[in-house]
Amino acid sequence: MKYFSKITRGNIYLSPLNAEDYEILTKWLNDDRISDWVNNTKAILSLTSEKAFLENISRNEDSTIKALAIIKKEGDKFLWIVDLSRINYIDQIATLWISIWEFEEHNKWYGTDAINAILLYWFHTLNLRNIDLHVYSFNENAIRCYQKVWFKEYWRRKETHYCNWKFRDEIYMDITKTEREEKNN
Ligand SMILES: CC(C)(COP(=O)(O)OP(=O)(O)OC[C@H]1O[C@@H](n2cnc3c(N)ncnc32)[C@H](O)[C@@H]1OP(=O)(O)O)[C@@H](O)C(=O)NCCC(=O)NCCS
Repeated sequence: MKYFSKITRGNIYLSPLNAEDYEILTKWLNDDRISDWVNNTKAILSLTSEKAFLENISRNEDSTIKALAIIKKEGDKFLWIVDLSRINYIDQIATLWISIWEFEEHNKWYGTDAINAILLYWFHTLNLRNIDLHVYSFNENAIRCYQKVWFKEYWRRKETHYCNWKFRDEIYMDITKTEREEKNN
């Protein structure tokens, strides 16, 4: 078995990462239909770099990062990683990062399901209070997905991201445990 269902929601479950997934990871990270959205086009990402990244993160030795694989229930297919970084247990804050890398798998609600599943784990199991994220202003799919799970813009830094001949804005969004509980009631 490669994946183990830790949290489930809709058509996906979240599993501990499998370090053997570095080859598919490298393929997706180099997909130019997606890489602009996450500022990856400028980077050169190889099998060697992604093998090291995945081996490192899947050991779970860094207490400020918690990463899980998003797995499509149908066929137990690895879609990508949802992770929480910069975890600060005193202030109870952290930052979300998510990607569904295979282009054909976008817009099927896997992102919404994965964030809903992980928010429950972070707010209730890890007892965090505020989760934030940042997204580029032209990534409309991602912004819409975050709005669907009640993240709200709290800050915008203008023209800080250069991409395809233009300078774009960076948008910062967040949600608190209280806001999330109100929405669930
Ligand atoms: C961002 C991401 C995680 C969202 O996951 P997803 O499974 O595609 O999202 P969902 O299907 O749950 O929701 C997407 C929503 O955006 C909408 N959408 C898609 N393209 C859109 C566009 N151009 N403008 C506005 N809304 C758009 C969809 O219709 C859907 O909303 P709906 O359910 O109301 O119809 C995923 O697309 C992804 O990994 N993208 C590439 C990497 C990336 O950008 N990561 C985020 C970095 S901040």
